[in-house]
Amino acid sequence: MNIRAMLSTDLDAVAAVHKAAFARQQYSKEWISANFAAYPRMQFYVAEVDGEIRGFIHWTQKSGFRPEVILELEQIAVHPDAHGKGIGTALIRDSLPLVKAQLATREAVLKHIIVTTRADNAAQRIYQKELGAEIEAVITNLYSADEVFMIARNVERINN
Ligand SMILES: CC(C)(COP(=O)(O)OP(=O)(O)OC[C@H]1O[C@@H](n2cnc3c(N)ncnc32)[C@H](O)[C@@H]1OP(=O)(O)O)[C@@H](O)C(=O)NCCC(=O)NCCS
Repeated sequence: MNIRAMLSTDLDAVAAVHKAAFARQQYSKEWISANFAAYPRMQFYVAEVDGEIRGFIHWTQKSGFRPEVILELEQIAVHPDAHGKGIGTALIRDSLPLVKAQLATREAVLKHIIVTTRADNAAQRIYQKELGAEIEAVITNLYSADEVFMIARNVERINN
């Protein structure tokens, strides 16, 4: 498995993973395309397995280009056919150093990582395990259900 920065030629494959992963979200290609164009505010990394894109992660810098960055793990998805094989874990673990390297090009460092997900989404476990994120608030009836707001604090040390 190879975790690398997304290229414009990956657009269809990433959109296909997005479509397969998020049943309630529409216009996957337009969504990925618009966000991909917002680099370096938004950064996409993909998981390639045997030459095929099986997952992606979408990181977003919040609230301006700050020297101490609040980074949001905005979306992560692995194709449903490939769940439970460590791809999601690798996407988080191996893309974060690439994000930090990109931030370092403007001498910025990571301060905190925020991530939100449905209160009933098992993805919370991966955020807790890989980032040390903790639930700081539960927001009632946000997207399709209650949403947990998680923060991983002091994360510059991760992967160091
Ligand atoms: C969340 C997601 C990316 C995890 O990817 P993955 O490749 O299956 O994850 P891994 O194989 O690395 O497993 C990571 C850990 O998280 C757990 N986990 C995470 N999400 C899970 C899910 N939806 N269902 C079951 N277990 C899940 C696994 O049990 C595993 O823990 P363990 O190693 O202690 O058993 C994947 O389930 C997915 O694409 N879900 C749909 C999209 C989504 O909900 N994204 C998050 C909100 S943006």
